[in-house]
Amino acid sequence: MKKLVISTGGGDAPGLNAVIYAVVMSAELRGWEVYGSRCGYRGLIDADELVRLTPQSVIDITTQGGTILGSTNKGNPFAMPVKNLAGETEIRDMSDRIMKNFTRMGFMCHIAVGGDGSLDIARRFQEEKGMPVIGVPKTIDNDLYATQLTFGFDTAVSTATEALDKLHSTAKSHDRVMVVEVMGREAGWIALNSGISGCADVILIPEIPFDLAKVCEKIADNDMHGKHYAIVVVAEGAKAKDSDVICQQGSCEVGRQEVLLGGIGDWVAQQIRERTDKDVRSLVLGHLQRGGSPTTFDRLLALRFGAAAVRMAEAGMFGHMVALVNGGMQKVTLEEATRIRKLVDKDDDKLQTAREIGICMG
Ligand code: F6P
Repeated sequence: MKKLVISTGGGDAPGLNAVIYAVVMSAELRGWEVYGSRCGYRGLIDADELVRLTPQSVIDITTQGGTILGSTNKGNPFAMPVKNLAGETEIRDMSDRIMKNFTRMGFMCHIAVGGDGSLDIARRFQEEKGMPVIGVPKTIDNDLYATQLTFGFDTAVSTATEALDKLHSTAKSHDRVMVVEVMGREAGWIALNSGISGCADVILIPEIPFDLAKVCEKIADNDMHGKHYAIVVVAEGAKAKDSDVICQQGSCEVGRQEVLLGGIGDWVAQQIRERTDKDVRSLVLGHLQRGGSPTTFDRLLALRFGAAAVRMAEAGMFGHMVALVNGGMQKVTLEEATRIRKLVDKDDDKLQTAREIGICMG
């Protein structure tokens, strides 16, 4: 009987449960057993955190947001903060213990579902410890270079677009400028896609450091043309020319040191307030973008990724991540998958579209 283990790591994304479902069902078809490791690698550290996943245990989960296995963006197993007997936190390398448990359980493969941080850890397990790994790309930020799209992104964009749609009416009633901060880390994909779809007047993304004078010009131009309100979408990683990104605090994303972004929306709102006579409000969409049921697109993509991951396991294609390339399922090495982040390119036609339909890109 072949056995495999699946884990979900990093920030959650709508569609994770659909991947789990597809892995369990495809493995069952082959007569294999599937185990789930709770909260990333915890199930491979402590047997209590390992759960047997059967077709019965995954009934109806494809429509559910989040992950039935839980996730964490803290605790890289190669440098994990652990409390010692004296109650002090020390950093320990848990990778050998994980490998011992992996072998003891007789797993033939680990399907690691994650973003670049989690996939980088999976790559290290494959390369440094010899764990047979298959990666599945997940992130609402859509910033993984090797795959055209990640699941979770479409849902996040839909949530942000719906919020923008609702803000139009209240902004219009009060002749206000509404500044909306969206997620995406260093990538402007969520801001760009939702901003265009939600008819924003201004979209500010990390890839284009912005000029506040231009933002205020656009607001004045709106006024001149009888539109006395404006919607400004700001990606959390956006920054003004000659300024730094705004962070809330240092935080540890699985596998790499990250800062917790946030605050740029309020800052932009304050700057507009000081430079114009407009009434300005700001809001942060935050984790709303990560929650809820996955869209049909994300569900389907996640199911395809999960089934493709099991096909790759059957073919022994370890050390690879399943990717969406030219509309089909393909494999890319984990090294290639995590090397660079996919950012909005200056030649992206969506940027051109935005400008041509009158959106100010700062
Ligand atoms: O990577 C996904 C993401 O939602 C980013 O867009 C955001 O910056 C970050 O995670 C937030 O992380 P946390 O869940 O730790 O607040």
